[in-house]
Amino acid sequence: MPGYEVFGEEERRAVLSVFDESGGVLFAHGFDGLRNGRYFVRDWERAFASRFGFGHAQAVSSGSAAVRVALESAGVGPGDEVITQAHTFIATVEAILQLGAVPVVVDVDDTLNMDPVAFEEAVSSRTRAVVPVHMMGEMADMDPIMKVAREHEIIVVEDAAQGLGASYRGQWAGSFGLTAAFSTDAGKTLNTGEGGMVVTSDVECFESARAIHDHGHAYLPGVPRGKDPALRSGFNYRMTELQAAIGLAQLSKLDLIVGSQRSNKAALVEQLQDLPITFRRSVDPSGDLGDTLVMILPTPTTAQAMVDDLQKQGIGTKNLPDAMRWHFAGAWSHLPGLRDPRSQARAWSKSDHLLHSAVALAVTVRMTHDQIFDVASAVRESVLRHQVLIGT
Ligand SMILES: Cc1ncc(COP(=O)(O)O)c(C=O)c1O
Repeated sequence: MPGYEVFGEEERRAVLSVFDESGGVLFAHGFDGLRNGRYFVRDWERAFASRFGFGHAQAVSSGSAAVRVALESAGVGPGDEVITQAHTFIATVEAILQLGAVPVVVDVDDTLNMDPVAFEEAVSSRTRAVVPVHMMGEMADMDPIMKVAREHEIIVVEDAAQGLGASYRGQWAGSFGLTAAFSTDAGKTLNTGEGGMVVTSDVECFESARAIHDHGHAYLPGVPRGKDPALRSGFNYRMTELQAAIGLAQLSKLDLIVGSQRSNKAALVEQLQDLPITFRRSVDPSGDLGDTLVMILPTPTTAQAMVDDLQKQGIGTKNLPDAMRWHFAGAWSHLPGLRDPRSQARAWSKSDHLLHSAVALAVTVRMTHDQIFDVASAVRESVLRHQVLIGT
């Protein structure tokens, strides 16, 4: 919960400033005479875009809304096939379904992100877009993914909800595709309670996203809102001024958050170095957010044995395996139309094996040396106890 961990006086003052400086909580737009020139959502969008060099940023009410708005602004519509990965939060697939598009869900590899080969194999004449998801702070292998996308003229929409502040070969998450979605919910790098951001460098895509997030408004300059025409159809996915004010305070702490996570993760790995553990493969360790350490054990049984051992020491896991239900397509029998292009069933056997063999540990901003030591000791004890199972 990185953003939450650093909540302090700055966020408190930011909330008060919405009342003190703009006379209460107003819409992000309008009320021009009342607000003393303060537009917190606009400032948040500008600050976010400029921090990462995005051409445009559109704040929205949640990361889920961001994925949906990004896909729609990229031109995804009914009947289009959209390729994404079996390891993601359910919102990625829900957003595709909400647009009447067809989710084609492919396996992940040992990066626990999209397998570029599985992506290429799933391409069909109906493929419109691909959504690589940067899970647990580490980016998908974007070079081969972008190559396949270019070759087949597939639009890339990154789901960077879990990758805010991550990078791949020196390039920020969210800057690879036509557009990208971020989340600033309470579990993400920056925390606005709920919140999301759509980013793009394409003006047309941005204008679509802006319209979609706000009932279709064209935002014609100088035209009063009541007379502003509709550019297209839309809905209300607007962010509130309060969320944006908190976001601005959180953004100033980004380096602190990512820096501490990275050094805490390095310290944890260092203490586990001599053990026969396979970690999740990283395609660019220098761009890792450092918020999660994932071990991949030989089998789901050995992973469960370690989880049980850790639990006895009071150490929980992060999403894998405890929230697998919401992060693996194989668990979503309630969603219509999901299919694994290889088996045509709801199988994803490779992802199933990898994810059920994974044990993910949270690495936090405020983790102390003692806490790191305790986690490392518990892992060590478990590995030694199960040496035969783990294969040493
Ligand atoms: C990969 C991914 N996409 C989308 C979302 C949705 O974000 P939100 O919770 O802000 O709606 C999440 C949230 O966990 C996520 O992890």
